[in-house]
Amino acid sequence: MSTPRFADFERILFFTGAGLSAESGIPTYRGKGGLWAEYSYEDYACQRAFLRDPERVWDFHDKRRGMVATCEPNAGHRVIADVQREKPGTAIVTQNIDGLHQRAGASGVVELHGSLWRVRCDREELVRDDTSVPMEPRRCSCGAYWRPDIVWFEDSLKESNLERAHELLEQCDLLVTVGTSAVVYPAAHLPRIAMQCGATTVEINLDDTPVSSLYQHRLRGTASHILASMR
Ligand code: OAD
Repeated sequence: MSTPRFADFERILFFTGAGLSAESGIPTYRGKGGLWAEYSYEDYACQRAFLRDPERVWDFHDKRRGMVATCEPNAGHRVIADVQREKPGTAIVTQNIDGLHQRAGASGVVELHGSLWRVRCDREELVRDDTSVPMEPRRCSCGAYWRPDIVWFEDSLKESNLERAHELLEQCDLLVTVGTSAVVYPAAHLPRIAMQCGATTVEINLDDTPVSSLYQHRLRGTASHILASMR
């Protein structure tokens, strides 16, 4: 089966994970050198940890902010943004919190897992963009700690984001899943919607994943290289 070309589709949906940003120098979560091998999520990436020790959780997130701030979008992010510019029916649903899609020029990105660059005050129900490194001040004027607006382990996904993702998956004529291990809900589940609705489906990854066999096209290699080959 020949590699699908973007030119042959109108409603392209990119569903992206940490593997897309790996070439920008941002470590993935699992596998060799993965973030969760070095840091346990129970201590740094769940609400319980935040309630127990917000300063420690903020130190971790400041470190991540500092690291991501030094990274640039890579050729893969740029291909996706270019395709969106050329084809207005293109949408992006990402599990990434790094903001690199937007920095490459993409718009309307559905951030399923939130953003490293937003904070919220759960007491006052405020959310705001914040790109400071380190994030200061750590407390809202009400006295409560700002919290990274990230979907941590054990958190629920925002309902409106899930609904939007469902809609986009139902409508797309090409689904391109890039750089996700597909072991975390909803990544393991969402692509099935596009498959059931008759979209052409592509999985780009270095390796097979537990859902690879569901895809019509399994393209192996780095995200930037394979995305460029679909132009
Ligand atoms: P993972 O770290 O679980 O998986 C990254 C995937 O990218 C793996 O399947 C790799 O084989 C692949 N990969 C690595 N480098 C690549 C490259 N250059 N080109 C193509 N593929 C490459 O990351 P995610 O699947 O995104 O959630 O993880 C899902 C969620 O789990 C994250 O959003 C995060 C994490 O816990 C939260 O923090 C809430």
